[in-house]
Amino acid sequence: MKYRELIQDMTLEEKASLMSGKDFWQTQNIDRLGIRSMLLADGPHGIRKQAVGSEQPGLNAGDPATCFPTAATIANSWNKDLAEKMGEYLGKEAVTQNVNVLLGPGINIKRNPLCGRNFEYFSEDPYLAGKLAAGMIKGIQSQGISACVKHFAVNNQEERRMTIDAIVDERTLREIYLTAFEIAVKEGKTKSIMTSYNRLNGTYTNEHLHLMQDILRSEWDFKGVVVTDWGGSNDRIAGLLAGNELEMPTTAGETDREIVQAVKSGKMKEEVLDECVDRLLELIFTTNEVFNKPHFEFNVEKHHRVSQKAAEESIVLLKNEDNILPIRFGRKVAVIGDFAKDARYQGAGSSIVNPTILDHTLNCFEESGIVSIGFEPGFERYGKRDRKKIEKACELAKKADVVLLYIGLDEVTEAEGLDRHSMKIPKNQIDLLNALNEVNPNIVAVLSCGSVVEMPWIDKVKGLVHGYLGGQAGARSILRVLSGDVNPSGKLAETYPIRYEDTPSYHFPGKEVSVEYREGPFIGYRYYDTAELNVLFPFGFGLSYTTFEYSDIQVNHEGVRFKITNTGKIAGMEIAQLYVGCKSKDIFRPKKELKGFSKIFINAGETKTVTIPFDDKTFRYFNIKTNKWEIEEAEYDIMVGASCTDIRLADTLFVEGTGAPLPYDKEELPTYYSANVHNISLEEFETLLGRKAPNPKWDRTKPLGYNDTIEQCQYAKGVSGRLIYFAIIFVHWFLRKIGKRSIANLIMMSFYHMPFRGIARMTGGIVNMPMLDGILMMVNGRFLKGLVHILKERSKMKKSPKTGNIGKRKL
Ligand code: BGC
Repeated sequence: MKYRELIQDMTLEEKASLMSGKDFWQTQNIDRLGIRSMLLADGPHGIRKQAVGSEQPGLNAGDPATCFPTAATIANSWNKDLAEKMGEYLGKEAVTQNVNVLLGPGINIKRNPLCGRNFEYFSEDPYLAGKLAAGMIKGIQSQGISACVKHFAVNNQEERRMTIDAIVDERTLREIYLTAFEIAVKEGKTKSIMTSYNRLNGTYTNEHLHLMQDILRSEWDFKGVVVTDWGGSNDRIAGLLAGNELEMPTTAGETDREIVQAVKSGKMKEEVLDECVDRLLELIFTTNEVFNKPHFEFNVEKHHRVSQKAAEESIVLLKNEDNILPIRFGRKVAVIGDFAKDARYQGAGSSIVNPTILDHTLNCFEESGIVSIGFEPGFERYGKRDRKKIEKACELAKKADVVLLYIGLDEVTEAEGLDRHSMKIPKNQIDLLNALNEVNPNIVAVLSCGSVVEMPWIDKVKGLVHGYLGGQAGARSILRVLSGDVNPSGKLAETYPIRYEDTPSYHFPGKEVSVEYREGPFIGYRYYDTAELNVLFPFGFGLSYTTFEYSDIQVNHEGVRFKITNTGKIAGMEIAQLYVGCKSKDIFRPKKELKGFSKIFINAGETKTVTIPFDDKTFRYFNIKTNKWEIEEAEYDIMVGASCTDIRLADTLFVEGTGAPLPYDKEELPTYYSANVHNISLEEFETLLGRKAPNPKWDRTKPLGYNDTIEQCQYAKGVSGRLIYFAIIFVHWFLRKIGKRSIANLIMMSFYHMPFRGIARMTGGIVNMPMLDGILMMVNGRFLKGLVHILKERSKMKKSPKTGNIGKRKL
């Protein structure tokens, strides 16, 4: 232990006090020992340090900070250096705001397109997500502070996120859901990691010994600090035993006392606590060093430009019929769509940034050189079909050479705490598009949203530019692509299926106790490609204003080398992708998997040689018999492509294996071997899992307990419980009715899906666990007894000291 002496000088109470927040965002300080607080702040694509009530809960507006593109956007750049640069600038801003730990990046895998937080995550592919995250972490940490990669792990739905039990087989867990975290830890060297709210195979992730000890600490050798997600602690002692150092936010000393008690009673050895304290002190001391030096305000303009550059490289050109883009000089353009007036540039929830500057399309037109003949909103963002607005838009469109149509998802549809209900964009926007198409077929749609949408309307547009959520400079960046100032170079980091029903996990989300990951490793392109299902846009797809030709592939055991020539008339950037597939059919696998990529700038007519080296992940698979990563001895397809379905060069390579026994019996898993995982039976899933899956339904006969959610009050035994349920449903319905959609969402996120224990964990000491027992008595049908219990416990709480003996010297 590095801080042995200091720890020896601490009282048990002092040590325990460090293990949870002092308030909502800061850790405990111990002045007599020179231990300062650390400030933790969201978030992944900009700093959200609450301007008002920085010590309080909630989603108050932050101090102004640069809003960079969200992870879903930056992922399309496939540029690790760019992610690192963005991290560096995020880190600089964090330092100016005295933030020690920046709560990001979020790197959960996009299992299903409807997950409400997909806009905050990188990709459906763990390799791509991991590499970009590692870049961003390096950038953030280059400024002396800590990144905090989140949410570890298997947090792939928002509904019931604080209790849902994700049931995943070990191989899928390792290959799909943990690989990005592994890269973030080993390559990114993240100093801290945030556990997720959910359970994994029956246990809360921060208490999960296999996840936290066997994998994170032993296999990956993680020496940093594990932080709970806010209010995500369940059993504090189980968390500590698993190595979860910091519980956030404050519990006003309640769990500190539990820790003290656990040590005194012998339930937990003091050494376990000491080691946790040691790791936390290292984070506190090292991240505080930067604040000893003078630091200056950041240059707002310069940071804005960096965010613009990040957005420009992340824009994806999806369709360009008749080379309608870039818009030729002098063509008359009609600008239509509400999103042109108010740019959609970020998602909702804890990642909301209060931008320093905000570009809107209409304000940036003049400098773009595109000749606009006028603007019409055409639809109301949150409204129904508006005939008048459509007519006006059509009148304008008739006079134009090209229609620029700004469409997308609204701000409250993609939000933390809620999943989307469909993959559609609102009908009033499609009605407008249909009407415009009747009067002018030269339509370029500009799409703004952070996740995958269906496009049954794709034939009605000639051009399609997907800006995702480009941050505060997103609108200007898109105009620069439309005008041709920037040659688009983004490629999709996720697949666009034709219909939602095509997705392998379309029984989404888990609604009650658990969610079964029956599709195994076949998510995203791993499924569509192997099952040979047509998609709208494949993973890795994106057009450019120039063209590239691939040639001269050479493969050896070190990697692959090939040439790319820019065969067009202008300079551009190409993203070459390396996919590997195993020819043996003894172990079921996706047909191909991404194992490397390179983004290169090539001048018109120029040829460049590209090398993509193999690494420890190129040929590995996780063997459940040996419980290790192994290599199957076989011939492998080595493929280089412009997308996962556009393979330009291919070769084969024989690779010696590690001699492990075959993990599966083919006969028992026929559907997995066929990759037709769209409808896997429970029986076959359980065979893959190696055990029975738990009952996914609530046991409605049981009284409600700590880990049941407020939503479950619908079947509570007590009338008061059921009343609470109906009151929430009514308030939610009413708020939506009067147009207060984001507050309605907040209710779902903060109350409806919250487990009862969250009332104690998130109220900063107003309600403690004994009082919660009283609340549970009330909802379970013993109203008066519960009320008396609450009052008694409340008065006990008022009399007892708030925290441990902080400040008193050990005797
Ligand atoms: C989110 C985290 C976030 C934290 C603090 C939680 O609800 O899941 O991503 O960092 O709040 O705002």
